Amino acid sequence: MNTTELEATVRAMTARGKGLLAADESSGTIKKRFDSIGLESTETNRRDYRQMLFTTDGLEQAISGVILYDETLRQSTDDGRTLAGILQAKGIVPGIKVDKGTIAMAPGSAEKLTEGFDGLARRYEEYYQLGARFAKWRAVYSISDHLPSTRNMLLNAQGLARYAAITQQSGLVPIVEPEVLMDGAHTIERCEEVTTAVLNAVFAALAAEGVALELMVLKPNMVISGKECAVQASAQQVAAATVRCFSRTVPAAVPGIMFLSGGQGDAEATANLDAINRLSAHHPWTFSFSYGRALQAPSLKAWGGKKDNIAAGQKALQKRALLNGAACRGEYEAKLEQAA
Ligand code: 13P
Repeated sequence: MNTTELEATVRAMTARGKGLLAADESSGTIKKRFDSIGLESTETNRRDYRQMLFTTDGLEQAISGVILYDETLRQSTDDGRTLAGILQAKGIVPGIKVDKGTIAMAPGSAEKLTEGFDGLARRYEEYYQLGARFAKWRAVYSISDHLPSTRNMLLNAQGLARYAAITQQSGLVPIVEPEVLMDGAHTIERCEEVTTAVLNAVFAALAAEGVALELMVLKPNMVISGKECAVQASAQQVAAATVRCFSRTVPAAVPGIMFLSGGQGDAEATANLDAINRLSAHHPWTFSFSYGRALQAPSLKAWGGKKDNIAAGQKALQKRALLNGAACRGEYEAKLEQAA
């Protein structure tokens, strides 16, 4: 394991005041996003969209890395620059989603396991050549009165840990993403209980696999009310529960906790991150963002698939990136949303 290179990658990813742009939507997911603006999901449209995002002027001010999908890591602009090269030229680290999505844990089961181990070490050789320096693997858990099951938490944790070990051995930094979904009417207390159990299982498995905690990034959900819960917790309540949960479960050696947005509104995801950082000045980790929808949604809408709107799409992305950068320092204020 080339520890020096992994350290440099982690340090760049978790630079203060910056976060990650998750632009690693699989073909199925990006089709859903494009459907929302009435755009066909062709390879060219996907390339044009990602090119619009990555060529945003000043993106590197608040974005330290971008998570790409396999197809995107291989794409180039019309003038022959690779999309990964565009990011590298700005000092932004390209990363790669390596899991291959989820399957039912057993026929008929509502619980899921993540696939993607076949040929993983070999795939990394190519991804490294293409410029990727970190990777992402997502495990997903839904909450009900009796789920997730102990077995599902154990198997997903083992998968995340095995992936993290292979990734470090291949010279890339693993982003370990256990996502407890917001779907459902559960309370924030129930989310805290489940997230605590999930993280305990994940860190036990990481220890068993011998994963170097200093050389990984955790990408978790915030502790938050279920989407359909009648009483929605405030940003301050989300911050208090989230910081308590991580203090109890995440070793201090982990350098960065970079949250997913998971279906929160874009301003909501920023306000929650800000509240977390205002609370947690004395904590060992960098609390930052690795948002997909919460960074991209306004930009996708402003762009609408039209060349004439590229500048508007980039402006919308840069606004969210900078506001989330401010939230990383605990300096976000809602009134900044109104500024141009
Ligand atoms: P969201 O921020 O849209 O949840 O996406 C982050 C991600 O990478 C999910 O795997």
